[in-house]
Formats: sequence, structure tokens, C-alpha cells
Amino acid sequence: MSRSRVLLLSGSLVAVAFAIVATAPSATARGRSQDEKPFVNAPSPVAAGEYLMTVASCHDCHTTAWVEKKGMVAKEDQLTGNPIGYHGAWGTVYGKNLRSVVNNHTEDEWVDILRTADHGKGQLPMPWHNAAKFSDKDLRALYQYAKSLGPKPVRLPRATKPGVKPVGQYIDLTVKDSTGK
Ligand code: HEC
Repeated sequence: MSRSRVLLLSGSLVAVAFAIVATAPSATARGRSQDEKPFVNAPSPVAAGEYLMTVASCHDCHTTAWVEKKGMVAKEDQLTGNPIGYHGAWGTVYGKNLRSVVNNHTEDEWVDILRTADHGKGQLPMPWHNAAKFSDKDLRALYQYAKSLGPKPVRLPRATKPGVKPVGQYIDLTVKDSTGK
């Protein structure tokens, strides 16, 4: 074999090896992590989180009177939970105080809770099935915004088991049939 053919051959082997090295790790990383999903582009994680809390409807259930006040709730009063219960086949649950949640959990634990429907314990109507699909960046931004508000403990009614009538105000989410059957 001439010297130039050997060079050509080894050159193409290097190219093949390089291609394998270059593509294999990113292909497996994509399978495992949600890092490459779309995320909100904002000047800071707190700004991204503030935006996402609103457009992803988190305030509707986690900020008292957010819907009634059409979103005009001062930051000081945001995300302290909702004392109006959500009643359904799962019992009655309350939109939790997310300022307490981020105070009691690390950012990694927050990501885990939202990815796993609170390790399988999470009840409706929290949209666990949607929240699990956030990119890592956006989940962390949501945490950063709630954290930036600081803790503000507010007492919420206790959740009740299925079949137990709730005390106080609640929204009935049971499915009814207009035919009365
Ligand atoms: C339709 C109402 C609703 C919406 C919208 C909603 N949540 Fe929730 N969320 C709840 C309820 C109710 C619970 C309590 C569920 C339970 O007790 O298992 C909850 C629980 C949680 C928890 C678990 C807290 C814990 O430690 O147990 C987190 C975190 C959370 N929500 C974050 C969010 C974020 C972030 C958004 C927006 C992307 C959001 N929620 C949107 C109603 C809602």
C-alpha cells in the first residue's frame, strides 16, 4: 500500500471514530434529562419564574383570590395557598402555600416533587401530568420565584379523605350527569 493510501485510510477511521464519540453521549443524555427542552428566556431565573407562575396558571390555585381579582394580587400576598377546597373523588385538597414548600425543600427536591406527582402521592386537581413536562430550567425558575418572595405562613384548612364532607368553602369537582342518572 502506498504511503498516501495508508494516510487516507487512517484518516477516515479517525473520522468514523470521532463521529461515534461525538454523537453517542448526547443521544443518551437527551433520553435521560429534560435539559434540552424549550425554556423561557428572561433576564434572570426569578424573572422567568414570575412569568411562568402566571402563564402556567399556578396562581389560580396557589394564590388566594387570584381569579376573582383578575391577577391583581400584590407580590406580598402571592403563593400563600388557597383556603377554598377542591372537592372530588380524591377527597378535598387545598392549593398549598408554595412559599412554605420552597422554604422546606431544596431546589432538587422541588424538581423531584413536580416530576413524580409528589412521589405518586399527589392528588388532583393539581395538573401533575402537565407540570412533569417542564424543562429543568423552567422548574428551577419557578422555585426561584417562589423563594424570592420569602416565607409567609398562612393557615389553610386540612385536606380530607374521600367521602368526607369538607368544612368551609369548597369547589365541587365531581362529575355530574344532566339526565340525573
Ligand atoms: C387547578 C389547581 C392547581 C393548579 C393550576 C396548580 N396547582 Fe399545584 N397544587 C394544587 C393542589 C390542590 C395541590 C395539593 C395536592 C395534594 O394535596 O396532593 C397542589 C400541590 C402542589 C405542589 C406540591 C406541594 C407539596 O409539597 O406537597 C407543588 C410544588 C405545586 N402544586 C406547584 C404548582 C405549580 C408550580 C403550578 C403551576 C405550574 C401549580 N402547582 C398549578 C392545585 C393546583
